[in-house]
Amino acid sequence: MNTLTLDKVKTIKTLNSISESGMKVFKNDQYSVDDSCENPDAIVVRSFNMHSMEFGSNLLGIARAGAGVNNIPVDKCTEQGIVVFNTPGANANAVKELVLTSMMASSRNLFDGIAWTKTLASEGDQIPKLVEAGKKQFVGKEIKGKTLGVIGLGAIGALVANDALDLDMDVIGFDPFISVDTAWNLSRNVQRAMTIEQLFAESDYITVHVPLTNDTRGMFNKETFSIMKPGVHIFNFSRGELVNEIDMAVALEDGIVGQYITDFPNENVLQMQNVVSIPHLGASTRESEENCAIMAARQVKELLETGNIKNS
Ligand code: MLT
Repeated sequence: MNTLTLDKVKTIKTLNSISESGMKVFKNDQYSVDDSCENPDAIVVRSFNMHSMEFGSNLLGIARAGAGVNNIPVDKCTEQGIVVFNTPGANANAVKELVLTSMMASSRNLFDGIAWTKTLASEGDQIPKLVEAGKKQFVGKEIKGKTLGVIGLGAIGALVANDALDLDMDVIGFDPFISVDTAWNLSRNVQRAMTIEQLFAESDYITVHVPLTNDTRGMFNKETFSIMKPGVHIFNFSRGELVNEIDMAVALEDGIVGQYITDFPNENVLQMQNVVSIPHLGASTRESEENCAIMAARQVKELLETGNIKNS
């Protein structure tokens, strides 16, 4: 197992675009930070896929500036005594804002409406008349009074659930692993589903906020689609692999899924009418990138300076 040495300069390897404010945490003579060092004491990473990387003998910890750790070979790290951190909650507000934006935009057919309006660019002074004639196809619905199902009530899911209540939605949540701490962050008005099937059957909108594991991979599939309300809107800002995209294409064609908003573009559904594919922008705000980088850098610093493991 790698060991902690307090008196030497510690080297930190950074893998892809960690914000400058995060790196400032290391700005003193005790640290050397760069993206090419061979045998670092710690690594701070964003989305770089580390599964085929060999780890040097000095490596004590890897901090992921983000929530998901599926780009890190966690089992291999555990075997080698390397601590893996993530930054829980640091990007939660950014993701929440995009989920709620997408929910309102999809309900008002905004994505299609905007794309259609651009097709009128060459119509000159006919544009107002064409707009009035064409807008009927985009009549939407309000989210007020509709039921939102939130799968996963961690930092992001709890924020989405609470804010959806403020938008006058009925909110039903499901999380088999919810901790007492998280429960305190959750409004009492969030109804708890006893089973995930109950949530699937009762929701007009479903948003998913769980990590990718063997249990959650493909959790949206033909069986689960078959119990959903026809026309349900599904929001996936967690990981693409949670959804069986071939089954999703069928569910969209059959009208079971009314709209699918995903932060993980996939070839099976990308071109479909009721699909909005976003280029993984859930956590892409300046604030969130700073929060994640600072939290990750502090975790690594604490590990290297004291040996303490603090995943917050
Ligand atoms: C996360 O895991 O935190 C999000 O998917 C955002 C990201 O990967 O940057």
